[in-house]
Amino acid sequence: MIANTILNGKVKFLFVLCFSFFLVSCQNESDGNFIANTSIIPKPQLTQLKEGYLEASEFIINENSKFVDHINFFENQFQNYSQKKGKYIKSGIGENLIVNINNEGLQIKGNYKLKVDEEKILIEGDQKGIFYGFQTLFQLILLNNENFKENFKIPCLKIQDSSSFSHRGFLMDCCRHFFSIETIKKYIDLLAFYKMNVLHWHLTEDQGWRIEMEKYPKLNSIGSFRKDSLGLYGGFYTKNEIKEIVNYATERYIEIIPEIELPGHSTAAIASYPYLSCEQKPVKVANTWGVFKDIYCAGNDSVFLFLENVFDEIVDLFPSNRIHIGGDEAPKFRWENCKKCQNRMKNENLPDEHALQSYFIERIAEILAKKNRSIIGWDEILESEISSEVSIQSWRGFFGGVEAVKQGKKAIMSPTSHCYFDYEIESIDLEKVYSFSPIPNGLDSIEETLIIGGECNLWSERIPNEKELDCKSFPRLLAMSEVLWRNPKKNYVNFQKRVESHYPILDVLNVDYGIESTPATIKLEHSKKTHAVIETKVKNLKYFFHWGDDSLKPLNNNKTIVNSSGILSIQAFKNQRKYGKVIQQKISIHKGIGKSVEYKNFFSEYYKSDGVKTLTDGKLGSLNFKDGNWQGFFGSNFEVVLDLDTMTSLNSISINFYQYINSWIVIPKNIQLYKSTDQKKWTKVKSLEGFSEIKKRGKFIKEAIFQDLKIESKFIKIIAENFEELPSWHEAAGSKCWIFTDEIIIR
Ligand code: ACM
Ligand code: ZN
Repeated sequence: MIANTILNGKVKFLFVLCFSFFLVSCQNESDGNFIANTSIIPKPQLTQLKEGYLEASEFIINENSKFVDHINFFENQFQNYSQKKGKYIKSGIGENLIVNINNEGLQIKGNYKLKVDEEKILIEGDQKGIFYGFQTLFQLILLNNENFKENFKIPCLKIQDSSSFSHRGFLMDCCRHFFSIETIKKYIDLLAFYKMNVLHWHLTEDQGWRIEMEKYPKLNSIGSFRKDSLGLYGGFYTKNEIKEIVNYATERYIEIIPEIELPGHSTAAIASYPYLSCEQKPVKVANTWGVFKDIYCAGNDSVFLFLENVFDEIVDLFPSNRIHIGGDEAPKFRWENCKKCQNRMKNENLPDEHALQSYFIERIAEILAKKNRSIIGWDEILESEISSEVSIQSWRGFFGGVEAVKQGKKAIMSPTSHCYFDYEIESIDLEKVYSFSPIPNGLDSIEETLIIGGECNLWSERIPNEKELDCKSFPRLLAMSEVLWRNPKKNYVNFQKRVESHYPILDVLNVDYGIESTPATIKLEHSKKTHAVIETKVKNLKYFFHWGDDSLKPLNNNKTIVNSSGILSIQAFKNQRKYGKVIQQKISIHKGIGKSVEYKNFFSEYYKSDGVKTLTDGKLGSLNFKDGNWQGFFGSNFEVVLDLDTMTSLNSISINFYQYINSWIVIPKNIQLYKSTDQKKWTKVKSLEGFSEIKKRGKFIKEAIFQDLKIESKFIKIIAENFEELPSWHEAAGSKCWIFTDEIIIR
């Protein structure tokens, strides 16, 4: 990076830089119909488009330019993009167009001004601002020039720009899957291009330790590799590689914040050095996903010595004054059963294991404070009081961040609802990301300033390679970049149009971007016949469908008849290319369709599916619980009354429940079925006891079916009992559970 010079007690920069262009023509007759494209992302705070454009074949700068690094960077960016060998930028005298770079009076925040007229370009800003000014200029060149065989044109305009948040982050998980140095650099380039400024680098996990360690070599020889069905998987970054990445990022004004997880998500470290855990028994580096019971022992001082030594090496590698220490998903089961941990609680007067977690975090904060570093932790670290200076990253919603700022701590918002880009597009699409505002309602102005920004998280359990990383990150990253740059000024329609202009650029940048939104949501319309109707937010899609034994057919008017139960498959196309995967919708046609349902305990806002119509809409859920068909009930029993309108003969009633214990979704324990003619007097018809599958892992659906009923009824009540909390032996012990269901099928 370019060194700052301190003058007169004020930070000032050497600033005059002259660019020159070979001016070819500003109003070339044959090009008189130039249409300016200003689809810059993130959209600058202020853009004034002017008449005309600048046309040039290359830039000529003043040979005394002090901004060699910025210029060289821009030159390289330009050359890499256009694959041109020759130089775009030359220095010399006799230049006929001049660009002045000037930062006087501007703060060191990355603010900049960019002015293009028919003869020159002017960029003003502090060092970081100049860098961002160049990124904006670069985008303008790419947006307005399809190729670089001819002179390039840049629309005349004035831009004044600054960011809304100082922390605009991207979390890359290199533990669940390992990404090469090249992929990481590609992402740093992309982050810089979209003016993001933090790479949160997740480097230690249950499934692998990814940093070369001098003092603890087994962290690499054992902890960096896991055995799965294909053999050994893993790797680590050498210290030299890490330094290379950090320098690469620094040159692009990106801060790398390493995450060293503790006290949980530490199986790889424990596998390397079993003395770090409570039981001190050998374990294997994890080769499945989830939350694991063995965590660092909080009662053993050698654990803190180990971590202090680890952090000695970490702070040598990472210049950032912030270190992320994780703190999430640390089950307390081992601590509850560990003599050392219990002794620690007694000696330190700690009322429970949550307080012990805070004790753990405080000790680490003290270790890092001695090294002049502050810590960031996930919102769980607020479970008990923390007095050290910590910043909170809020992920289980916004409440952790709100709690943090109310305690005067800084917060970074990355709620699962908007920021988890590892989630499927069905649950977080481009518009949903664009609707993200890191600042929730109800904060005062001081509290608002403590929210320093947001992050999108790319947990890589289901991101095995760069292709999948691209597909999950893009185009959603563009939305994140804009909301963090420009909160709260937003216009989705305008944004979506600008995104279209970026696809050709992303193609050249070798980004295998994914889709913007679900290409087809299937609605069932019930009258005499049932029609499946396709809806989508994506423009210009065409569909083919498959139903029953039929062959694949074009879907006319986005609508088809379905009068029996079955699976409807839909494939969308955009510009003759497949758009997204085949969408399959299971459909059940039954007596209860369209009937009204009353809820005793309401469904969650996060998993509401189609609201009160969900349980009788004829649509069944898939194994993806975020497919929009599942309705979720948090921490309470499921209890609904179905009104069949008239006395109806009933032979069977079934209801599906979903389980994925890693996401705290659990099949209920007992299910009861009641009938009534007036909703006053209820008669129990049948019940299913011991229906749960609490020990079973993975994602599955279990159908609760009441058969051979041979009854008549007008009202039906179903009660399914939730587990109030996961039992103590479970990794996520103590957490409340969800019940998920999709349809009440009446036959
Ligand atoms: C997290 O997603 N466990 C922070
Ligand atoms: Zn212990």
